[in-house]
Amino acid sequence: MNIRKYENLNQLSINREPARTHYIPFSGLQEALTGDYKKSHYYYLLNGKWDFVFYEKDTDEGKTAGKSGKIDVPCCWQLQGYDFPWYTNCFYPFPVDPPYVPVDNPLGVYSKNVELPKSFENRRTYIVFEGVSSCLELYVNGSFVGYSTGSHLPAEFELTDYLTPGTNIICAKVRKWCVGSYLEDQDFFRLSGIFRDVYLLSRDIDHIEDVEIYSDDKKIEYNGKGEFMLFDADGNPANLDNPILWNAEKPYLYTAVIKYGNEYIPQKIGMRKIEISPLGELLINGVSVKLKGVNRHDTHPKYGYYMPDNEIKDELLIMKKLNINCIRTSHYPPTPYLLNLCDELGIYIVDETDIESHGFVRCKSKWSMSGNYWLTRRPEWKNAFLDRQIRMVERDKNHSCVIFWSLGNESSFGENHAAMSEWTKNRDKTRPVHYEGANYAEPAPNPDSVDMRSYMYPSYQEVEALAQDEDMRPVFLCEYSHAINPGPGDLKDYWDIIYKYPKLIGGCVWEWADHTVLDKNNNPLYGGDFGEPIHSGHFCCDGIVYPDRSIKAATLEMRAIYQNIKTEFNGKTLTVYNLFDFTNLNQYTLYWSVETDGIVTYTGNCTVDIPPHCNEKWNLDLNIPEKCSLGCYLNINLVDKDGFSVAETQHKLEVPVVKENICNTSSNISITDEDEVIKITGEGFSHSLNKMTGMLDDINGLNCKPTRLTAWRAVTDNEFRFLNSKWGFSENMEQIGENLDHTFERCYEFEIVDNKIKLIASVSGISKEPFLRYTAEYSFFDDGSIDFKMNGKVREDCVELPRLGFEFALPKDSAKFRYYGMGPEETYCDMNGFANIGLYESSAKDEFKPYIYPQEHGNHFNVTCLEMENGLCFTATDKPFEINVSEYTSDEITKAAHISDLKKSDFITARIDYKNRGVGSSACGPALLPQYCITEKDISFCFKISI
Ligand code: GAL
Ligand code: MG
Repeated sequence: MNIRKYENLNQLSINREPARTHYIPFSGLQEALTGDYKKSHYYYLLNGKWDFVFYEKDTDEGKTAGKSGKIDVPCCWQLQGYDFPWYTNCFYPFPVDPPYVPVDNPLGVYSKNVELPKSFENRRTYIVFEGVSSCLELYVNGSFVGYSTGSHLPAEFELTDYLTPGTNIICAKVRKWCVGSYLEDQDFFRLSGIFRDVYLLSRDIDHIEDVEIYSDDKKIEYNGKGEFMLFDADGNPANLDNPILWNAEKPYLYTAVIKYGNEYIPQKIGMRKIEISPLGELLINGVSVKLKGVNRHDTHPKYGYYMPDNEIKDELLIMKKLNINCIRTSHYPPTPYLLNLCDELGIYIVDETDIESHGFVRCKSKWSMSGNYWLTRRPEWKNAFLDRQIRMVERDKNHSCVIFWSLGNESSFGENHAAMSEWTKNRDKTRPVHYEGANYAEPAPNPDSVDMRSYMYPSYQEVEALAQDEDMRPVFLCEYSHAINPGPGDLKDYWDIIYKYPKLIGGCVWEWADHTVLDKNNNPLYGGDFGEPIHSGHFCCDGIVYPDRSIKAATLEMRAIYQNIKTEFNGKTLTVYNLFDFTNLNQYTLYWSVETDGIVTYTGNCTVDIPPHCNEKWNLDLNIPEKCSLGCYLNINLVDKDGFSVAETQHKLEVPVVKENICNTSSNISITDEDEVIKITGEGFSHSLNKMTGMLDDINGLNCKPTRLTAWRAVTDNEFRFLNSKWGFSENMEQIGENLDHTFERCYEFEIVDNKIKLIASVSGISKEPFLRYTAEYSFFDDGSIDFKMNGKVREDCVELPRLGFEFALPKDSAKFRYYGMGPEETYCDMNGFANIGLYESSAKDEFKPYIYPQEHGNHFNVTCLEMENGLCFTATDKPFEINVSEYTSDEITKAAHISDLKKSDFITARIDYKNRGVGSSACGPALLPQYCITEKDISFCFKISI
């Protein structure tokens, strides 16, 4: 048969050691107890510079010189000047013709001279590669040692017989594609190379092969060879009469050490029991727990799949501060170091094996999740599936943080998944099995192979229906709230339901971080920027944090929705709900303050003794003012002993808002009908209103271009698919929609009555009938202020509007502003759970959000006052409005595909919006709920402009 060795399904590895628990042996007990394996005398890290030769085609090896140089290990070669990064979501970047991979298969040859430490002599030596994409052929001193596939799983080989004292040449030949690539069709950059640690282990001639430790809420057991020692967290011999249990909030760890021969092997062990209750709850040590999760990929803008240990730690510490208690390791097992940290810091792990074959969904003319061509239904692929599951479970079985085993992602469901589940359940009776693809099982979804029903992006109605149906297995949203920019806007809506039903055990936001690769100038790039023949654009920039893990408004929103207190206030009584699963609130201090017009006028604090899942009421004796001019709010903070606020809530206080200094005289106003404009003059000011458009052209020189009434915003990623089908876009005349990106204002009639101008006008998209017809009334006062009121009708058959409001063009030296509303980060009608109403200062520049693909951003919801640096001020006279102050127009943002394409306009745009549509998560998730859309046909809008 004309098949190459790395296309051979019957030979997924050669001479690879059997899978085992990840551990590092030490030479002494004290050393072992530190757990710092980089200090073990039996451990020799091979990370660092290696020699590298790259061949575009593996067949060129030995025929041409290749491109050679030094390369960093671990890293991915595409980030070090070889080959190119390639981003695709589900499309395979090659023909779907298993087991064959492209004829031209790039090859990277890594080699390193290794000086064998003297102490390693006369013992056994092994080499471990923690992660290599896509397959590895190993040679030592010119002799072939072994072969392995399975990128995100370890490959260990015994080198004893190949090594000589002194210098040895270790050579790893890594191919870009192999048969395993069919199981690695995850939605990420397709990168290659040695991307996790590589090290030598020196072992006793006779040594332990594996370490398996059983633990639950009552005991810790070891039945293997050697002497078993158990220590508590202080390093004293452990006594388990009154064990301290492990959970994500209080991750108490014991240390087990197994001594055999000269080796001491430490393992951190938490005591905990995972069960599913008859109601379908997830019980950790008998307590019903909700998973507040994220999906995490290995992604680093400089190193690709590799992330340095300190950055992993920083990242997990950020997650803890964001109230995240769960990570789904989408879509492959993470580096073992991450699991060590999750044991230690307390994060539940859904450990997913390295299997995704999503591209089969589109490998024929039609889209299909069923059909016998899916690999899971092909018997010859069974071993490949099992191999990956076995290697994950064996590697990670002792980790307390791992609470579910996942059979992979998006690979449909067939006998091969059933076999993986069967093997897993026989091997480990302590953890349930998750796999979303079981929804595609035939003849019926979700067979017994899965212990829970898992879903991606269901609608709220679907979630509620699942919560109420007869299947009593837990319902897990393994992916929900697609965090592509600037959302998600629906976290609260999901969690209102999740808290309501026991069977809903929570979920994982898609996804944690944006994936990008930086160019030489540090500009973030995405799919299509590398000349890839087929790619998925910027769909990889869908993280709830930026590529460098800095936070977005959405991050704060998730933090607020995941926070562990909820409060209610009825004017007198404050009810505090403790949403922690294992923590009494008495370890925090509850602070409250009354904020009047943005200034704190009263504060208090107390310690609250509320056990987990309980609530308590207090009568708060607040000192509340009689009146205010902007608003009065009760702000609550829950603060830990280091002064860090872990949760915040806000309640409106019923204090009358009295506007002072309102001018209602108009004795000195003159309104004159001139050629094109109507001039309004008074003492010390002059305005003009355009007769033909009905728009204010000049507000006493404070604006620099005519005002506009518009409905367009730079389309967000979550609504991108509506662009042509819904709103229309003037560049594409074939489509339906309203061409809202290119609109015209027209005034038909106007009338001057006393101090007022009344008019009838409309707004239309190019080539379209007017979508909005309205009447408006401008009233002018002696102090130069203008009261504006409009009543409009949106055309009956017009699409739902992205936004509607005024755009004021202001000179660049009026870029600073203050506002009273929801801030300081951007807020939308469906993404403001984190924001307090307050008085904030900002500037057009600071409002910019560096979303990798530029789009709508910087809105503030629920605003009643905006005051620009030059004195131009907008105040709500009935309902709050939304504002946006930017150095860019929507048009400029719409046109840019990268941040570096953005050009600042020579003026500032300040939007005063009747409404701005929510951000939702519809890129993958449900349609935006009606309450966040502008669907109403009758519009009435009013505000005051003062100078
Ligand atoms: C899911 C998939 C993820 C990701 C997401 C969209 O279908 O499991 O890997 O592609 O959609 O961003
Ligand atoms: Mg996929």
